[in-house]
Amino acid sequence: MTDKRPKILAFAGSLREHSLNKRVLKTAIKGAEKAGAEVTYVDLRDYPMPLYNSDEHERDGFDANALKLQGLFVEHDGLLIASPEYNGSLPAALKNAIDWASRPSGRYEREKVFRGKVAAMMTASPGSLGGVRSLAHLRGVLTSVGVIVLPQEVAVTFAEDKFAGDGWEMSDERTKGNLEALGAALVEMLRRMHAGN
Ligand code: FNR
Repeated sequence: MTDKRPKILAFAGSLREHSLNKRVLKTAIKGAEKAGAEVTYVDLRDYPMPLYNSDEHERDGFDANALKLQGLFVEHDGLLIASPEYNGSLPAALKNAIDWASRPSGRYEREKVFRGKVAAMMTASPGSLGGVRSLAHLRGVLTSVGVIVLPQEVAVTFAEDKFAGDGWEMSDERTKGNLEALGAALVEMLRRMHAGN
């Protein structure tokens, strides 16, 4: 495990195509890749799933897209998550995906979905708080499913101004540095854990 490149699953909590959080996430991914990780980016829009209802789960079985997502969690060591703040918390789509993945599917060992994984979180908003209030909620949810969440986190305030126009490349060097450092910190933690120190 020591010489293996850490495998990180990166996704945003927004379903919007031109999401600020997806754009911010790309920079953190670069930081993780530069630090030596193998990063898989997925878009939650490609995994539409019903709102979790245990009656329907029992009746209809495990949702096919939720199962694909659960498999992705199993295959990765770390999570890089950029999520918007919706009314002071995480968006329902992200919470629903985590809820589905946390349920037993019969396909994967439940202990291998979230437990012992390490996550780094960031958030972006056009507003002055950058969505920072949502991070405490997301941290609580991730912790409750057994994910270790890095103490470092990034909230990108006035996020629309941090890019050159509508582009995906960050123009604000300081924010770019903070996001790349977050990605690198996740890789560093995964390496330490795999090395056992
Ligand atoms: C928002 N937005 C928002 N912003 C914020 O800073 N704090 C908040 O509590 C909320 N609440 C909120 C609720 C709902 C339902 C929506 C749709 C939006 C604004 C939000 O930050 C903005 O739409 C971002 O652009 C969303 O992130 P993405 O989709 O661009 O990544």
